[in-house]
Amino acid sequence: MTYNNRLVCLLLVIYGISSFFSSVSSLSRADFPSGFVFGTASSSFQYEGAVKEDGRGPTVWDKFSHSFGKVIDFSNADVAVDQYHRFNANIQLMVDMGMDAYGFSIAWSRIYPSGSGTINQAGIDHYNKLINALLAKGIEPYVTIYHWDLPQALDDKYKGWLDSQIITDYARFAETCFEQFGDRVKHWITFNEPHTFAIQGYDVGLQAPGRCSILLRLFCPGGNSATEPYIVGHHVLLAHATVADIYRKKYKATQGGSLGIAFDVMWYEPMDNKPEDIDAANRAQDFQLGWFMEPLFFGDYPASMRKRVGDRLPKFTPSEVAFVKGSLDFVGINHYTTWYARNNSTNFIGVILNDTLADSGAITLPFKGVKPIGDKRGSTFVEMRRKDYEQKRR
Ligand SMILES: *[C@@H]1O[C@H](CO)[C@@H](O)[C@H](O)[C@H]1NC(C)=O
Ligand SMILES: *[C@@H]1O[C@H](CO)[C@@H](O)[C@H](O)[C@H]1NC(C)=O
Ligand SMILES: *[C@@H]1O[C@H](CO)[C@@H](O)[C@H](O)[C@H]1NC(C)=O
Repeated sequence: MTYNNRLVCLLLVIYGISSFFSSVSSLSRADFPSGFVFGTASSSFQYEGAVKEDGRGPTVWDKFSHSFGKVIDFSNADVAVDQYHRFNANIQLMVDMGMDAYGFSIAWSRIYPSGSGTINQAGIDHYNKLINALLAKGIEPYVTIYHWDLPQALDDKYKGWLDSQIITDYARFAETCFEQFGDRVKHWITFNEPHTFAIQGYDVGLQAPGRCSILLRLFCPGGNSATEPYIVGHHVLLAHATVADIYRKKYKATQGGSLGIAFDVMWYEPMDNKPEDIDAANRAQDFQLGWFMEPLFFGDYPASMRKRVGDRLPKFTPSEVAFVKGSLDFVGINHYTTWYARNNSTNFIGVILNDTLADSGAITLPFKGVKPIGDKRGSTFVEMRRKDYEQKRR
């Protein structure tokens, strides 16, 4: 029954996309199923600014963006779009746009300035004002509990996501959110794109906290790209499951909300239509979505990851398997683009990368030879495959 409903929903969305290309002006809400939720979304670090106001503690992203050479144009988020002060005007814009929902994340270090310990009431007050202002205008809040702005204090104390202590501290923070906001917030997302912060933060070092060991350790002061991303992912999954359990046992019955997690998901097309590239495209997906989805749905990492990563991949104990499996009500998919994947058939000794990308044995690229996979769209990594949609419509 549920499955059928989802299928109908999916088909209607595809219909919406194809009608978009045949005639943009004819696209309307009627092209979507009733109950389809339109919304906009943000994250605390990217939007709020006010980084030193009302007791907010520093985060790994404050430190990273103020470290020389980490952000190409030397910008930081000290002011950002000043959402902390301008949320009322922004909510009015959402109303004017006809939005139904607003996704935002709660800055852990506004609630617990040092990650754990005493609650900062001014932080609670801010999100109460934001949530109440949204509801007063008929906009449903969708709240992400963690969108990468780890309190710096926890990175200093025990290297954040690399230590299992993070599970307890994250659970305390999440439970505080349920206690304080759960009477009004009915959609909880435990993590936004854990794959992104595991890779960007701990494998290639391009985002906070900027750890890596690739390229002969030239660019990161510390890190191990062959082990740390997997440890981070493991602690994220256990933290998610812990919080899902708390929500189900103590809050769901009275508050009546639902809880899920959101993933970044590219699609991968085989570079050439041959078995080794088809396998590579599947492996690339295993190392991206499967890494998190398979433990949540089947209780363990994908077989390709277990085989290729071996002892460097943490293991779930039988009780953890039971705990993690099924610990969600919905899955969020953030889809940006499609890339090609091909088998990595080079015989290099793994010193240059020796990371999760090398482990996947798949090389992923947005072009074949010199030909890009699709038209460029407003961002260096988003390629819209319009021609494909048009062909599939015929
Ligand atoms: C893919 O490349 C690896 C080398 O990294 C090679 O051992 C393997 O045979 C290739 N796969 C296929 C199906 O050719
Ligand atoms: C391809 O595999 C080799 C051998 O494992 C490794 O050294 C290299 O970094 C990999 N390249 C990519 C782009 O993953
Ligand atoms: C890759 O990193 C792992 C973990 O640090 C290490 O055990 C292994 O020897 C490294 N492999 C190479 C080829 O450097």
